[in-house]
Amino acid sequence: MVLAALLVLPTLSRAMALTVGFSQVGTESDWRTAFSADMQAEAKRRGITLLFADAQQSVERQITAVRGFITQRVDAIVIAPVVVTGWAPILKEAQAANIPVFIADRAVDVDASLFTARIAANFNLEGRLAGAWLAQASKGRCNILELQGTRDSAPAIERRKGFDNIINQFPDMRIVFSRNGDFTTEGGQKAMEELITETHGLQGICAVWSHNDNMALGAIAAMKAQGLRPGHDQLMVSVDGVPKIFQALLDGDANASVELKSDIGKYIFDVVQGYLGGKHDYPKWVVIPSDLHTQADAASVLAARGG
Ligand code: AHR
Repeated sequence: MVLAALLVLPTLSRAMALTVGFSQVGTESDWRTAFSADMQAEAKRRGITLLFADAQQSVERQITAVRGFITQRVDAIVIAPVVVTGWAPILKEAQAANIPVFIADRAVDVDASLFTARIAANFNLEGRLAGAWLAQASKGRCNILELQGTRDSAPAIERRKGFDNIINQFPDMRIVFSRNGDFTTEGGQKAMEELITETHGLQGICAVWSHNDNMALGAIAAMKAQGLRPGHDQLMVSVDGVPKIFQALLDGDANASVELKSDIGKYIFDVVQGYLGGKHDYPKWVVIPSDLHTQADAASVLAARGG
């Protein structure tokens, strides 16, 4: 019995010593840096060697990184793709090399046979949650400014669709201006500075809908610099639930944020390890839940997160 265990153990530990290549979008938002830190911590906890490649928002850099992972013969590849387009050729290369690919967070626009599974929240639902919150908060009458995330990225596409899907059911709700802020604080601030000028100080504007918190935080800074009162005279709704937006909710500068969980390494590595261990019946999309927070629960959520 003991001898049998001794013979099996080295095989098991060899089987567990995984090397995973991870191509990450960049460092554009607080959510993203928290997600990167969580992936690294979770890999360490599980004894996985994680080869981390920061693409600095460039899909070309991602493709180069993935090709490098293939050359290194990693056990699995995780990709958080910048945009939905351009992925088929490199995914075919990974498939030809027999390396399973897992898509994390953002989606890719390819035939589903080219990757093993996607582990991600439902961005369309996030947009619908934000739209539904705004519909009730504004009683269905609202001229909205939209700050959009990176063009051709799954969250920008799907959040917009989900939000539109809800507000289109209210004849007096409409997006009057949209600007791209590339998911960054600076992008949101610059876009809002321009919008303040174009709307003569946000005249007639009831809300700002931002595809992520960092752009909302930039917009809040721009509005306050002009003596405007975000959270009071304009409703501010965004996505991510990062610590700084919770502070803005507590300060009364923001009104609602749909939480996109950033500690998702556990969901991703569960699927990667499960698959490599022989479980092959995962759904193509393993959905991570989302929920909405407002000024009413900001203090308790922050306290539960440890401040
Ligand atoms: O893909 C998720 C989005 O990417 C987050 O909402 C945003 O903050 C990040 O840049």
